[in-house]
Amino acid sequence: MNDLVQMNDFSSDFWHWFIAIVTLVSIIACGILAYLNSRGPKTTTEETMGHVWDEDLEEYNNPLPRWWLNMFYITIVFSLVYLILYPGLGKYKGLLDWTQRGQHQQEVAQANELYGPLYEKYASMSFDELADNEDAMKTAGRLFSTNCALCHGSDARGARGFPNLTDDDWLYGGSQEQVIQTITHGRVGVMPGWDQVLGEDGSRAVAEYIMSFSRDPVNPRMLEAGKEKYDQLCVACHGADGKGNQALGAPNLTDDIWLYGASHKGIIKSIQHGRNGVMPAQKDLLSEHQIYLLSAYVSHLAKQADKQ
Ligand code: HEC
Ligand code: HEC
Repeated sequence: MNDLVQMNDFSSDFWHWFIAIVTLVSIIACGILAYLNSRGPKTTTEETMGHVWDEDLEEYNNPLPRWWLNMFYITIVFSLVYLILYPGLGKYKGLLDWTQRGQHQQEVAQANELYGPLYEKYASMSFDELADNEDAMKTAGRLFSTNCALCHGSDARGARGFPNLTDDDWLYGGSQEQVIQTITHGRVGVMPGWDQVLGEDGSRAVAEYIMSFSRDPVNPRMLEAGKEKYDQLCVACHGADGKGNQALGAPNLTDDIWLYGASHKGIIKSIQHGRNGVMPAQKDLLSEHQIYLLSAYVSHLAKQADKQ
């Protein structure tokens, strides 16, 4: 793609020549300037340039220090050699044929060569074997820090809207296949908003009802109306018993674990305006073997929590 962009940038040769010529002329001009300045008296004199600033500030007409001039010449030679070897003059590619993309590809290839066999070995092990393998879990932990921690937190405990991965409460299921599926292809939670249908009072009543699954009701008067609405509008996804549906990512509403906050207000807001959590697909970012290892890691975190 970079090649295409480069070709588009220079669809006529004008900019190629413009950049190349301006660059070379500037370098040559620097050389001439340095050369002209190196002429003149070779030794220190008392002679001044004739300008006076601020009444008594004068400039001696002394030669530039030799070391300084030589540095200047070296810089000029360096830049010319650089421009012959590397791209810099319009679309001229340089003798070494170096490109940013080429360098990146080379580094990726080196990394794959180095770590590829390791991930391949891990991919041939079961989740249980991986959980017992300290090196594998350390490698997975590093992958997690780079690719997942930004949303799920460095301790994988999540935050509002980002599920905690260290508990055994799953939106989309905790089996090996389900976790691999979630990470590979991503997930989109679809909870519609009910403000239009329920209105303020209706939303409060339903909220009261679903909170009563896990807490003592605050307004028992509302429960009946809430249940009626729930049975009408919510069972399809959250189930008659409120335990959710992993095929839809509809959370269990009975366990007092709230993805979007446990407060009264947060729960009412979920009902009124809906929620759409997005877990981005990783299949283009990570290799199949890396995803397998990460899935084992996430499962391990959840099982550990289960034991406690
Ligand atoms: C851009 C933020 C983001 C990144 C990066 C991200 N996730 Fe997620 N992830 C989410 C969100 C949001 C959800 C919940 C989706 C929903 O609400 O339906 C989720 C859900 C999940 C789930 C499902 C949990 C359940 O209860 O079923 C797993 C497993 C998971 N992520 C693992 C990972 C792993 C492993 C990585 C790193 C490779 C990762 N995530 C990177 C935002 C992210
Ligand atoms: C089309 C399926 C569907 C229907 C119908 C539905 N929900 Fe949901 N609900 C979801 C999904 C999916 C999520 C998770 C959204 C996410 O992951 O971002 C959710 C999330 C929620 C949450 C947030 C849970 C948390 O842990 O923070 C609440 C509260 C909720 N729903 C209540 C209700 C109520 C009350 C109704 C009926 C008025 C209802 N839902 C109807 C699918 C549905």
